[in-house]
Amino acid sequence: MIEKDTVQYKAAALQDGETKETLLREADELRTLIRHHEYQYYVLDAPEISDAEYDALTNRLRSIEALFPDEVPPDSPTRRPGGYAAPGFTQVKHMVPMLSLGNVYNAGEMGDFDQRVRNALPAGTEVSYVLEPKIDGLACSLIYENGWLVRAATRGDGETGENVTANVRAIRSIPRRLRVPDGEEVPELLDVRGEVYMSRDAFLRLNEERIEAGETEFANPRNAAAGSLRQLDPAVTARRSLSFFAYYLVGPAEPETQEECLRTLEKYGFATPEHWCVAHSKEDILRFIEEHDRRRRELAYDTDGAVAKVNAVWQQKLLGATGKDPRWAIAYKYPPEQARTKLEDIVIQVGRTGVLTPAAVLAPVKLSGSTVSRATLHNEDFIIEKDIRIGDTVVINKAAEIIPEVLSVVKELRPDTAVPFVMPKECPECGWAVTRKEGEAAYRCTNPHCPALGREGLIHFASRDAMDIEGCGPAVINQLLEAGLVKTPADLYELKEEQLMTLERMGKKSADNLLRAIEKSKTKGLDKLLFALGIRHVGAKGGRLLALQYKNMDALMAASAEELAGIRDIGAVIAESVVTWFASPGNRDLVARLKEAGVDMEMQAQDVNEDHPFYGKTLVFTGTMPTLDRATAQTMAQDAGAKVSGSVSKKTDFVVAGAEAGSKLEKARTLGVAVIDEAEFLRLLGQNPSGAGNENLSGTKAAGLPDAEAGSPPAAENNDPFASGEGNLFAGMGE
Ligand code: IVH
Repeated sequence: MIEKDTVQYKAAALQDGETKETLLREADELRTLIRHHEYQYYVLDAPEISDAEYDALTNRLRSIEALFPDEVPPDSPTRRPGGYAAPGFTQVKHMVPMLSLGNVYNAGEMGDFDQRVRNALPAGTEVSYVLEPKIDGLACSLIYENGWLVRAATRGDGETGENVTANVRAIRSIPRRLRVPDGEEVPELLDVRGEVYMSRDAFLRLNEERIEAGETEFANPRNAAAGSLRQLDPAVTARRSLSFFAYYLVGPAEPETQEECLRTLEKYGFATPEHWCVAHSKEDILRFIEEHDRRRRELAYDTDGAVAKVNAVWQQKLLGATGKDPRWAIAYKYPPEQARTKLEDIVIQVGRTGVLTPAAVLAPVKLSGSTVSRATLHNEDFIIEKDIRIGDTVVINKAAEIIPEVLSVVKELRPDTAVPFVMPKECPECGWAVTRKEGEAAYRCTNPHCPALGREGLIHFASRDAMDIEGCGPAVINQLLEAGLVKTPADLYELKEEQLMTLERMGKKSADNLLRAIEKSKTKGLDKLLFALGIRHVGAKGGRLLALQYKNMDALMAASAEELAGIRDIGAVIAESVVTWFASPGNRDLVARLKEAGVDMEMQAQDVNEDHPFYGKTLVFTGTMPTLDRATAQTMAQDAGAKVSGSVSKKTDFVVAGAEAGSKLEKARTLGVAVIDEAEFLRLLGQNPSGAGNENLSGTKAAGLPDAEAGSPPAAENNDPFASGEGNLFAGMGE
């Protein structure tokens, strides 16, 4: 384990006392050290040093290598992309193969499936099916040992998947510990299968953030979910809202039906697909498919079909599988919804961060039950790549089933008059120059006072996920701006009934309603306010994390970038952005005016349990704990409101020491920091009768926290019974 002092580095030139020989030796040592930390981080999910310390090590190595480029070995960590080892995920063999599903596309084919099932079962067998939505995400297997989540893997090729345990632990809807009702036995081993997905809202937010950061957007929620789960940095997964629906279970106490399987999963604390039903005939199946097609557009997530599963497990077993598809289940896929129409123009929209987004103006066309006349074109690269020209006939579909997107151009129908698109050099809102940073896809307006920023910022401020001012949508904001009644969000709180009544279609009643909604927004709390202010990179979740940590605006405003970056899931980019935002006199003035207007600048009390012994404390973990793996223990502490740090200092409140704890333990003793063991750590965590400190960010109870008597989770991956093929309670259970 290295101590922080050893990673203080000098500039990239030969310093006093340094020779080529000493530097090359140092470089060699650095490579060994970096490899060790990469292994800890990427493979064991147990980093021993902070990202900053890691960066310091690689920077020092780079600076030495720059002096002696001929001496850089091909396997140096600096030669890999981004300087990271990125060994990827370890592979894990599924204890029972993860099957896929065959597809059918129409009623006839579904009827054939039903017939095949009935023909394969003994004559006269009653057959029923469970019908579920087909969630558009990626399949995942979650292994629970004695009730604790010990391993999670992607489907991979069905036999072997990727170990994504650390990332899955960041998904709030996945219990880290099964919720077993009192008096019931905790299953020794359980393999829960289901779908990791991203809601459309989360997808849209993520893409918005990516546009702001100059990154390419994800094409759809499924890709976004896959990209977010298969992240080498679990902190990135944690920032992206992923969800999970469980639909299958492999365990010793096998359910008798799929129906019972779903109920058992619910009992253990999993979300199961909404709106499933039992069908007894082909007609029932088709009815569900139709019903679901109507309903699915209103769901918060994408579903691309419906799955019919033979209900009785004994029948499933008899039917078996062909290759990778079970004979007892089938997916009905809805036809992709596409339409052709003419691209009449390409217009530029300027967003609240000054990003210019091209949009297609289309000849109105019916698609998925609504009339579409606009579609997103993302950015210049997208238009060039697809060679989209004004006047073209284009194929559109609905990405995320809500935002229409141009898929392709029908080249055969291109008229001679079609005009290639050119990104304007000037902002269409204010005429200032636009720029595109190297490596970014987005063009931005360079005018810090561009009217679009103010308008879009106001629209965002009042929007549902922010201050939620009902009746204050884009149309009203535009009118307020045009009438000169508002310029900044603070002006909203000074509006008078008479002023509002001068607006179009605004009578006394609607004016009063709007004033009431504005008044109500004052109590939204610090988290919503921080999101509403539109600080770059601070999304809804970031606002909540900051509010939870600082509790009031003054404390947050006094925080340094370094301090902010130390908060779980915040990181340097957000930290810098927050500090920069508050450094602007205009923004400080806005906050002061909002405060004066009576806007709540505190985090609402019920969200934090300040009485928890770890609340607001800094913990350092060192050594190997008897039962808890490092990542789980850290998350438990963080869930209780603690900060987890990689190094011991005077500011450390507790060092949780396991076996073979080294220099950190010594340092804690020298500094007089409290040292506790795992048992004490669990006891203190359990000293929380209200349980409020165990509450996760979405407000639901995290099932994965122990109480005093609850026993402990097993050591995770490092003694995984499946990795070696031993201890598999389900040997022979695969189809
Ligand atoms: S059952 C043997 N149920 O669809 C059980 N799969 O196209 C096989 N999927 O790999 C899976 N929703 O990722 C099942 N309600 C649902 C599903 C579902 C989505 C996915 C799953 C599977 C893929 C096959």
